[in-house]
Formats: sequence, C-alpha cells, structure tokens
Amino acid sequence: MPANKKLLMLPGDGIGPEVMNQVRRVIDWMDKARHVSFDIDEDLVGGAAYDAHGTSLTDETLADAMGVDAVLLGAVGGPKWDNVERDKRPEAGLLALRKERELFANLRPATVFPALAEASSLKTELVAGLDMLIIRELTGGVYFGQPRGIEDIGGGEKRAIDTQVYTSSEIDRICRLAFDMARKRDNRVMSVEKANVMETGVLWREVATAAHADGYDDVELSHMYADNCAMQLVRAPKQFDVIVPDNLFGDILSDCAAMLTGSLGMLPSASLGAPDESGRRKAMYEPVHGTAPDIAGQDKANPLAMILSYAMCLRYSFDMEEGAEMVEAAAKTVLDNGLRTGDIMQPGMTLVSCQQMGEAVTVELDKLAG
Ligand code: IPM
Ligand code: MG
Repeated sequence: MPANKKLLMLPGDGIGPEVMNQVRRVIDWMDKARHVSFDIDEDLVGGAAYDAHGTSLTDETLADAMGVDAVLLGAVGGPKWDNVERDKRPEAGLLALRKERELFANLRPATVFPALAEASSLKTELVAGLDMLIIRELTGGVYFGQPRGIEDIGGGEKRAIDTQVYTSSEIDRICRLAFDMARKRDNRVMSVEKANVMETGVLWREVATAAHADGYDDVELSHMYADNCAMQLVRAPKQFDVIVPDNLFGDILSDCAAMLTGSLGMLPSASLGAPDESGRRKAMYEPVHGTAPDIAGQDKANPLAMILSYAMCLRYSFDMEEGAEMVEAAAKTVLDNGLRTGDIMQPGMTLVSCQQMGEAVTVELDKLAG
C-alpha cells in the first residue's frame, strides 16, 4: 500500500463539477464501508481557475498536484474562454498538469458494456464484447513541440507553425509500457504512426521494433498507419488489443474508440508517469469526454466515465484491484438494470439524471458489499 493516500480533485468546467460530485458520493461510500479513506483536497482548474485567478492553473495548485499520487480531473474548457490567450486558456492548465508531472502514458480503455452494445452507432455485432486499450503518448509530439506560433509574413499573409517532435527515449518508454500492459491482456500491440509521410513516424516504427526485440518477443507487435487505424476502428474494432499512438493521433483515435462504446460519457482514462524508486507512479484520472457546455448545470451528464476513472485510480495508484472491480461491477449492474442518462438513452430504458445515476451506483455497491 502506498503511504500517500492523498487525492486532489480538480472538477474544472462545464459538467466537470457535476460528474465529480458523483465520484465524491462513491468515495464517501467507500469511506463509510471502510474500504479506504482518502485525504481529499479540492481546487480550481481550467476556466474556473481563470475566472478566479486569471490563469488556468495557479502555481499553488500545480505544487499541490506535484505532492499527491493521484489527481482526479473532471474536464476543462468551453466557449466562454475561446478568446483567452493560449497560455492562460483552460486547456493550458490541463496540459501543464500532464507535462509538469511527466504523465507520459495515457491509458484509454474502450470496453463495451453488454447492456450498451446497441447504443453504439456501429452494428451491435461489430462492437459486442469489444475490449481494447489505447495507450496514448501524452507529453510529447505536436502538443509541446517548439517552435510554434503564428507570424506575420507580410502582404497580409500569416504563417502558423506547429512542430511534431519525438526523441527515441520518449518513444521507447511508451512502447515498453504498452508491451507490459499487453502482457496482462491479449498480448498484442499495434504501434500506430505515419511512417509513410512523417519523420517522427519513421523513428516511432524503428524504436518500437527495437524495444520489442529487447525482451518482449512473447508480445505480438504489428504496425499500422494512423489513417488506416481510424478506418479499421470503425470497420472491425475487435481486431485490436492494445494500440500505441503518439499524442495527436492518440487524441483522435481515442475519441473514435470511445464512441464505439455507445457514448463518450462512458470512457475513463488514467495518465501515468514513470515509477519512482518505490514503484509508485504519479497519476491523473479523467474521463475522456469534455465539458459538454450544452448540458452543463442541468444534471443531465453521464457520471459513469468519471466514476470509472476513479476505479482506475484505485487500481493503478492504490493497488486496490478489488475495489476497482467493485465499482466497475456496480456501474455494469446499473446499466443492466436499464438506467440511462440522456447520452445513452434507448427505447424502453429508464432516463435518469446525473445525480440519480451516481446514487444508483452506490445502491449497487451496497448490494455488492452485502
Ligand atoms: C483530451 C482532450 C485534450 C487533449 C484537450 C482538452 C486539450 O481532447 O484529453 O483528449 O487534446 O488532449
Ligand atoms: Mg481529446
């Protein structure tokens, strides 16, 4: 058991606070049932922090985040801050939390709950039983590469520059983590890049191949171009076990994979750093969905991705596999019982609010705890 049982909650913007409240309910339940108690701090991030402090992540909040093993984050951003300068925008706070804490690996599992197979926009038989894991590189690539900017080049013309850059060690560590994770699953890794047009893609393939040859020959490694991967995800998603893409391709492919499961509102994620001497990794847990400004404040959001992110937190930060499985089982049962938030609503099911969904999860936890 890690010594540090501290959690920092950063609800953020839009539906972030609403879904975080439902995680709070689950955490309180676990506390009462004496499964685990956390020392919890809560703070602002994103647009909420910008409104209060003029920056989307204050130095104090970042320092607090550096001092805890696990951060739970809701979501950041919204049209309200569209015109804020880039380095103060809500997204900048999130990117700084990832970068400063060196959370280089973003695990985004896409699993289809049996009760939701029909909610997918793809045919049920294509997605039923789907269980894949995208391991997105999170602290490199075009998200952070320099130089970047927009410059005037005269004659009314402007030029925008982003830089896609990767070092071999950045690629090596994410690929090795993907191989390690694959061993606990179906043992197959698909490395994704565009080696046909990009230098970073050439290096990605070369380093993935070398890392694989260095102690992972029991794992099956294949390579695929990112555009083909997007196509295969909607054509035959069950062919994949673990996919390891760079930051930008991972952003895009994980939204696509999320939607296969019926709704973006279902997908959790874990962002992990390298293990320290005692084997602990800094981590942040957040749903893949965004702030959904159109339904914010209306108690309509689906809290399950946030609640499932908390399950990942129990698993990866606190080694509480049993607790994680309990939360996941409770979420599954609630869906089996026909409860649905608007995003996954289907004929004949029972439409519930964000709060009712959270409450239903704790009711199932009660039953599981017997
Ligand atoms: C995600 C989001 C973020 C990203 C945004 C909010 C900066 O889309 O976590 O997938 O692009 O990484
Ligand atoms: Mg995204």
